[in-house]
Amino acid sequence: MSRVTEVRYVGYAVPDLEAERAFYRDVWKLKEVQDEDGLVYFATQGHDELYVARLRQADERRIDVVALAADSNEDVDALHEQVVASGCKIISAPHELDQFGGGYGFRFFNPDGIEMEISAGVERGSARELEEREAIPEKISHVVFHSPQHKEITQWFIDTLGFRLSDWIGDFMSLIRCNSAHHRIAFLPGPACLNHVAYDMPNVDEMMRGLKRLRRDGFDTVWGPGRHTAGENTFSYFVTPNGFAVEYTAELEEVDDDNWEPRTFKPAPDIMDQWGTGVGGPQTMPRPEADPGLFKPAGV
Ligand SMILES: [Fe+2]
Repeated sequence: MSRVTEVRYVGYAVPDLEAERAFYRDVWKLKEVQDEDGLVYFATQGHDELYVARLRQADERRIDVVALAADSNEDVDALHEQVVASGCKIISAPHELDQFGGGYGFRFFNPDGIEMEISAGVERGSARELEEREAIPEKISHVVFHSPQHKEITQWFIDTLGFRLSDWIGDFMSLIRCNSAHHRIAFLPGPACLNHVAYDMPNVDEMMRGLKRLRRDGFDTVWGPGRHTAGENTFSYFVTPNGFAVEYTAELEEVDDDNWEPRTFKPAPDIMDQWGTGVGGPQTMPRPEADPGLFKPAGV
């Protein structure tokens, strides 16, 4: 079965583009790589994915697209067939993409109505070794959603896109993978929307130095710093000027993709955070509200 192999980028529409742009560039420390037709693209410097975030201005904030990678055009075609067979609505069938970076891909609404893209052959960007104490994100790590059908959609990602179950926390959070990283996507209950997008920092020290920069620039942690148990990754969550949650994480566990046995953790404070020394908790994260873009093509 053809499967998705990576998370590529998240496209956002925001009312205050300039504030969001300045945040990602000057505070979060992504590199602005393109500004074209009202779309601003950002890359991480430690990985050659051409871009990991895309912004545009709109009256209402929404998720425009969450893009995933496949290894080949044949996999894109096969995944398209799998999505069609699952009954999901296709926005555009596989074709040569004319957006920044090109490639071959298709768009569809997942069962909750979030617009998704799967592509292959996208132009690669540049990457460099990050220096110690730069404290900037290396690459995109994972995307977490809320879903009114979080169990069913978890199974849909497994059956249709080839994700594999890594762990459950109780019956309220699923963590799924598409390669050897413990999780690339996770689901929580709630109205269909994004919970957060996480970026890998090179190590825990760099995450803490990044946290210092965020705090200095007026973006204090809404939850963290701490260390999760499922995935063993450290975390610190922040909120962008337009209200989207983002995370600096480090040391996400690598697993044996073919043989990992999923676990179910009993929900408890020290499962959510082994350290227990940070501020906040899930209750201090932005309140989930149904994304206004559900089942509405972003058009970009
Ligand atoms: Fe996370």
